Amino acid sequence: MTNLSSFRLALDRDTRVDQGRLWASLMAMAEVGPGIAGGNNRQALTDEDGAARTLFARWCQEAGMEIHVDQMGNIFAMRPGTDPDTAPVCVGSHLDTQPAGGRFDGILGVLAGLEVVRTLNDRGIRTKHPIVVANWTNEEGSRFAPVMMASGVFAGVHSVEWAYDRQDRTGIRFGDELERIGWKGKMPVGSLKLKAFYELHIEQGPILEAEGTQIGIVTGGQGLTWLQVNLQGRSAHAGSTPMARRRNAGLGASRVMELVQQVAMSHQPYAVGTVGRLELRPNSTNSVPGSAELAIDIRSPDATVLAAMEASIRHGVEAIAGELELTFTISRLQHAEPVAFDEPSVSTIRNVAASLGYTHRDIVSGAGHDAYWLSRVTPTAMIMCPCIDGISHNEAEDISPEWAAAGANVLLHAVGETALVDACTGHP
Ligand code: GLV
Ligand code: MN
Ligand code: MN
Repeated sequence: MTNLSSFRLALDRDTRVDQGRLWASLMAMAEVGPGIAGGNNRQALTDEDGAARTLFARWCQEAGMEIHVDQMGNIFAMRPGTDPDTAPVCVGSHLDTQPAGGRFDGILGVLAGLEVVRTLNDRGIRTKHPIVVANWTNEEGSRFAPVMMASGVFAGVHSVEWAYDRQDRTGIRFGDELERIGWKGKMPVGSLKLKAFYELHIEQGPILEAEGTQIGIVTGGQGLTWLQVNLQGRSAHAGSTPMARRRNAGLGASRVMELVQQVAMSHQPYAVGTVGRLELRPNSTNSVPGSAELAIDIRSPDATVLAAMEASIRHGVEAIAGELELTFTISRLQHAEPVAFDEPSVSTIRNVAASLGYTHRDIVSGAGHDAYWLSRVTPTAMIMCPCIDGISHNEAEDISPEWAAAGANVLLHAVGETALVDACTGHP
């Protein structure tokens, strides 16, 4: 039975997710790989990431889903549809965190997907299309660069072999670590063809909370480029080497940090620039640093601005190195153009938010998301909910149970519209 009246009957506007259950799942997941200040340290492919995956897979199996794992360790928990020949509607995000990460960045999108399925199960609602809840491996990119790695492989942006060869700072290969934690699957990456992808995520910025708006309709996201700069000088004694005779890579690094700041400031309000990682060698109080490695993150919603920023930084690094008698290399670790999401999918989210009575506004995402790469291979849109003070990539990251549930309700109804409610027994 596929008709509109059954859809209305089965999934009317009063149907809501179970807020308490969603929150309890979020809190239980936050117990896995705790940080030191109330958040999480569950970096990609650590034992803690493995434990989070096992917990998620168990919950999905308890909700009647089949678990599929691809060669990148992406987990696809599948709730069958009534028509086995149709492509799944996918929802999800990531369970890995920053080294000092929050409890919701990524996790909300995965567990809200599970809550959607649990809610449909509670009401005996079947959909024509299967529903897949995905956990994308290594979204954060802090242990293994780049960000959004495995969704990028899924979308054909990177090859599996290239991804396997990425190393963390201790030289451990991504592929070896994926195998070690037991989540290297057999399914060819990208072989699952999707009807649509929806990702619910916390805003990670201050706009929605400041306005008192419940739902962000994400129309697209900023482009981003990561650059690694290596400066080579000469390590020397901090006491006996005259200032004029130094080739100080640490001083060079500090000037590059200032350069990134100036470049971003010269493109306001359409640019941000950050040096989030800096390593000096030998990193000893009484040695002039002989080498420095910096990772630069620049972003803009405007591709032209992003390109201009990169060019300015490259020229600036060259000038700084020249002045300080350093040699240097600059390599791109990551580049993603600004993204515009699929307009019909964005409209679906907007209409659903309005019909559920939520206050909402269009918003451009400042952060990177797996949805960016997914948008290359399937119609994609994102939903955002507020977070306290816009704080994220910080253990203090926080949201309210009501905000989480509002986002999950929009996700539920967007999935219902897209996966096509086909039958409702009214019984699980
Ligand atoms: C992902 O967390 C990003 O860097 O935006
Ligand atoms: Mn995230
Ligand atoms: Mn993040």
